[in-house]
Amino acid sequence: MLELKGVSKSFGGLHVLRDVNLSVPEGSIFGLIGPNGAGKTTVFNLITGLLAPTAGSIEFQGTSLLGQRPHRITRSGVARTFQNIRLFKEMTLLENVVVGAYRHMNYGIAGLLLSLPGYREQERRARERALELLTWMRLEHKANDLADNLSYGEQRRLEIARALATEPKLLLLDEPVAGMNTGERAELMREIIAIRERGYTILMIEHDMRFVMGLCEQIAVLNFGKIIACGGPDAIRSNEEVIEAYLGREDEDDMETTGAQA
Ligand SMILES: Nc1ncnc2c1ncn2[C@@H]1O[C@H](COP(=O)(O)OP(=O)(O)OP(=O)(O)O)[C@@H](O)[C@H]1O
Ligand SMILES: [Mg+2]
Repeated sequence: MLELKGVSKSFGGLHVLRDVNLSVPEGSIFGLIGPNGAGKTTVFNLITGLLAPTAGSIEFQGTSLLGQRPHRITRSGVARTFQNIRLFKEMTLLENVVVGAYRHMNYGIAGLLLSLPGYREQERRARERALELLTWMRLEHKANDLADNLSYGEQRRLEIARALATEPKLLLLDEPVAGMNTGERAELMREIIAIRERGYTILMIEHDMRFVMGLCEQIAVLNFGKIIACGGPDAIRSNEEVIEAYLGREDEDDMETTGAQA
């Protein structure tokens, strides 16, 4: 579904990604892990069109994403959450999610301002869908609260609901459990499984190894901008180079590395 081939990215003389190849199959939950500064978020920024690669190709469902503006990439079915939460804190949860859906509607903000005929029906549908997505993320009871009043874990779930409002096929999650406690992590794991069962494909960056190993069928490991390993959880867990570069040799309880940095 998503294919990166020979992708490199430099910022001036700094080579952040080198010859990255990544193939995310439709319907999978795919993990992208690696030490801080390895280039993981940069991969998301390239896929979503916020940055252009220095070399290589990025295809989504057989179509090149290169040169496409971020909103077009969103429209073609790629949504993301951000490592640093980006919500409208002065707006309600429902409004935050509806705003996510506007990109997908024919009328958009102009329709809202001009009260175009047809807009109302679209708005009604957008609100209905937003409520449904809030329900998926167990936030429907707070639909009319301000986003500012949410706990950190709830804010992260709201971000996912908002990303889903663009009706993506591929969902990119950048450290979805950062800042969550153990109970919240377990619940989000169930929600992500439910999202996948609804037919979405998920590519996630995460430092919580229990979370990644528990969810992902395939995991790619980035180190200093290069993919050093790609495979199933067991293969990654026992890969010597990955252990050296990232996982370390501690027992599993210590495998959560940097978690909540952002
Ligand atoms: N727009 C930019 N301009 C210059 N350098 C950048 C830019 N974006 C990222 N970098 C650099 O690229 C490197 C990789 O950053 P990136 O954010 O992709 O790492 P990461 O793997 O997501 O790390 P973390 O786990 O800490 O989030 C870092 O050295 C970072 O400083
Ligand atoms: Mg990052």
